[in-house]
Amino acid sequence: MSHISDLIATDIDQYLKVHEKKSLLRFITCGSVDDGKSTLIGRLLYDSKMIFEDQMTALESDSKKVGTQGGDIDFALLVDGLAAEREQGITIDVAYRFFSTEKRKFIVADTPGHEQYTRNMITGASTADVAVILIDARKGVLTQTRRHSYLVSLIGIRKVVLAINKMDLVDYDKAVFERILEDYRAFAARIGLTDITAIPLSALKGVNMLEEAAETPWYHGPSLMGYLETVDVEDAARQAPFRLPVQWVNRPNLDFRGFSGQIASGEIRPGDAIRVQPSGKTSTVARIVTHDGDLPVAVAGQSVTLTLADEIDISRGDVISRTDSPAHVADQFEATLVWMSDAAMLPGRPYLLKIGATTVSASVTEPKYKVNVNTLEHLAAKKLDLNEIGIVNVATDRPIAFDPYAENHDTGGFVMIDRISNATVGAGMLHFALRRSENVHWQAVDVAKDQRAELKGQKPAILWFTGLSGAGKSTIANMVEKKLYALGRHTYLLDGDNVRHGLNKDLGFTDADRVENIRRVAEVSKLMVDAGLIVMVSFISPFRSERRMARELVKQGEFFEVFVDTPLAVAEERDVKGLYKKARRGEIKNFTGIDSPYEAPEHAEIHLAAADLSVEAAADQIIGRLREAGVI
Ligand code: ADX
Repeated sequence: MSHISDLIATDIDQYLKVHEKKSLLRFITCGSVDDGKSTLIGRLLYDSKMIFEDQMTALESDSKKVGTQGGDIDFALLVDGLAAEREQGITIDVAYRFFSTEKRKFIVADTPGHEQYTRNMITGASTADVAVILIDARKGVLTQTRRHSYLVSLIGIRKVVLAINKMDLVDYDKAVFERILEDYRAFAARIGLTDITAIPLSALKGVNMLEEAAETPWYHGPSLMGYLETVDVEDAARQAPFRLPVQWVNRPNLDFRGFSGQIASGEIRPGDAIRVQPSGKTSTVARIVTHDGDLPVAVAGQSVTLTLADEIDISRGDVISRTDSPAHVADQFEATLVWMSDAAMLPGRPYLLKIGATTVSASVTEPKYKVNVNTLEHLAAKKLDLNEIGIVNVATDRPIAFDPYAENHDTGGFVMIDRISNATVGAGMLHFALRRSENVHWQAVDVAKDQRAELKGQKPAILWFTGLSGAGKSTIANMVEKKLYALGRHTYLLDGDNVRHGLNKDLGFTDADRVENIRRVAEVSKLMVDAGLIVMVSFISPFRSERRMARELVKQGEFFEVFVDTPLAVAEERDVKGLYKKARRGEIKNFTGIDSPYEAPEHAEIHLAAADLSVEAAADQIIGRLREAGVI
């Protein structure tokens, strides 16, 4: 059901079919190889007999050869062998293993423990009911234990097994066990983890793994397997209010119109009053249709098609709720965001945000702070790098239905996707809607864009000049404006150097500042188009993402990207402002083309080989293109 793991192709579905009748427990193991994690998982698999005979024989002989564990079987060999197979083809590298006992079937997500694998752990944890946090009894609670626990609490796992391993190496000493547990409880309380079951273990010797062991007569709790087989994971999704994210509108013929999807939470019956969100329209459930006939009631996890008493407009991505407990609707939120990409998250940059069955354009408007995952300290943040976790404000380009993540993981958890590469770059949890998103409304105006343009006798447009510093953007834009002016057109020229003296004087040349620079000027040029003007924008605008954002702010046919394609060598040779020399000497940092990238346009409307053209000829080419397009 969860969005994050949906992105990962595994054979989970097939596994679930085979063991359909038993209840399922998903858990994650947190720890490193040093804590004995591989040994622990290996032993669970081995003892549950989910290993094929030939693998078992190979394991026994391998262990003898390696001989690192004395006469004991080295279970770590088993897991590490499987890992290599599993990890192939998994985008975010989380190894899922499946096993089952008489009582239950299990899916264990095994993720590497180091800080650089934070994103893997978040992915693995996103579907887990229980977290098994490993501790080496000789070392006690470590920085990584705290980090793992924080991530576990962040993702909303409430039940923790504190697996205090390697008890054989501390002579099964009760005092050691109790001291570690006390340490851990003190920390865990701070992050809201209270349901903690500590078990003294030796994964290697099999102590307290399957049965309560003689080695720890002072311990009266369950064995690890005993706990996993019996722990009650109450079905939180079933108790939460009803939510059906609409996956598709099912309309085979004129007589039938149904809304299909998997119920994220709650239950529904024919006759229930429902509300469609974000639109807010209401109706009543007529039928609940499934492959096996109509149902009198449907619950979380089931895939159904609802038909309604009234003909109302519903599209893919809408959420159907019951009118007595609807979802929230907003377009600005506070959220926790875990960044999963090598390319930093830059505020103001548009990404796709996928939540439930809907995908919208969204950006981070403001990072409030980031969290040091080892100390939980809050740090100032202008961007988020790989594996960093921030508390941020997010804005979507239209209102969406949602719930706080704490109340509903399916309608409150989201992923962020890069618009150019389509890669998943972040995962997040919504906290609440910002007040401003409820209190700021659009003011209706009586004089519209078309009328303003008509009065000026023209079609508004944006000519977006992009290219290196010194490419000739401003000179050409200036010439184009002169020509348009002579033709009696109403124009304005927004030039990077000039705007940076006023509106954008607080911005420098880091990637984050350039994104904000372009975001602001794109919004300004949109306002100018709304005013009916032909506006020329002359900014390096080095990133594809932001040029695309500018393009999408106006209607199709109103945006002309003009690539002033002057080779770096030529621009540098000209060096009108002497900046290239300074940049080469290292006196200016982040200079475009030198130590900051320029992403050339791929589909510019107008591509000028500017080094080989006179300014006049370049301007004429643009004017010609505007004529062709019917702008002038
Ligand atoms: S953009 O990258 O954010 O679009 P913009 O067009 O506003 O840049 O500003 C570019 C102008 O700033 C250049 O023409 C140059 O005169 C000046 N400049 C100063 N420092 C830099 C730098 N590090 N990189 C690029 N241009 C710089």
